[in-house]
Amino acid sequence: MPLTNRSTLTQFLIEERRRFPEAGGDFNALILNVALACKAIAKAVAYGELGGVLGSHETEQGGSINVQGETQKKLDVLSNEIFLRMNEWAGHLAGMASEEMEQPHPIPVCYPRGKYLLTFDPLDGSSNIDVNVSVGSIFSILRVAEGGAEATAEDFLQAGNRQVAAGYALYGPATMLVLSVGNGVHGFTLDPGLGEFMLTHPDLKVPEETQEFAINASNSRFWEAPVKRYVDECLAGKTGPRKKDFNMRWIASMVAEAHRILMRGGVFLYPRDSKDPSKPGRLRLLYEANPIGFLMEQAGGRASTGRLPMLEVQPESLHQRIGLVFGSKQEVERIERYHAETQAGDRDIPLFAERSLFRD
Ligand code: AHG
Ligand code: MN
Ligand code: MN
Repeated sequence: MPLTNRSTLTQFLIEERRRFPEAGGDFNALILNVALACKAIAKAVAYGELGGVLGSHETEQGGSINVQGETQKKLDVLSNEIFLRMNEWAGHLAGMASEEMEQPHPIPVCYPRGKYLLTFDPLDGSSNIDVNVSVGSIFSILRVAEGGAEATAEDFLQAGNRQVAAGYALYGPATMLVLSVGNGVHGFTLDPGLGEFMLTHPDLKVPEETQEFAINASNSRFWEAPVKRYVDECLAGKTGPRKKDFNMRWIASMVAEAHRILMRGGVFLYPRDSKDPSKPGRLRLLYEANPIGFLMEQAGGRASTGRLPMLEVQPESLHQRIGLVFGSKQEVERIERYHAETQAGDRDIPLFAERSLFRD
């Protein structure tokens, strides 16, 4: 007698695997280890202040800074450790790369090496952790060119359309795991009593049309013309060219924004801007933009740099940053069109400039 009429994550993965009789069990075991890491992080997050895990990570030298130049929170460091320990032993991976580590994590010599690569953002939206707002983890799985050997940083530099699987865990009011193994997007809710992810949201689809956008408007003076144009038109509402009112949201946890968009549509922009010329965007290609992009495309949405489909971008470095737009297909396509039109306009009239409500 089943405990419930819902599938567990394990059952879902076994049933998926039956479609590929030649597949070994490695891949499913890898996903289950990732899910276990997410459950352990969910537990640490849920204890909040009681667990002594809030605040910045302090070393003897003071606060620690990661390769991104960002101050690490205790939970950034703890979540990274959890991902490493839960995934390094099983023999499925040739290496792991994370937001919190400059170089890939080598699989300890006492364990076998496998044919997959795992990249992850162990805690996304970590500026929110001390104020008890939703955070998440993001992961992406690639195949390594040559199994059995230690992965190098170059091995991870694969375009997003080569991802085998991607997903995120959202530590919100409920903990959820949202996963694609290349056959649609499926959402699982953690049953805290059973400690199991249960399939609650099969075959998620991003609604095509929307009236909601998400962008950090404090950066508006640094935006490029096509982004200004798009946002201005949304703000102009019913009386503007879009002829409808838009709503705006900004959680500052991309996982939570991606989840909202999967549930009820919308568009998210963290575009390339001129704020810091050394950073062509805020978010990272390999463990933020690509996995979220994979999920969006698998759910019938779209992800783009504004100029190129995100999943076609050839990565150049492990921690490469990139402008990211994702969500409802029609909105992303519109933003791409505005970029293309601006480029064409720039070629015709060198001093071309967009009017903007955000302009001083
Ligand atoms: P992380 O916590 O992994 O560094 O990522 C935070 C990201 C993303 O989740 C969010 O959308 C964005 O940074 C927020 O940026 P702002 O602080 O500029 O709003
Ligand atoms: Mn992040
Ligand atoms: Mn992070």
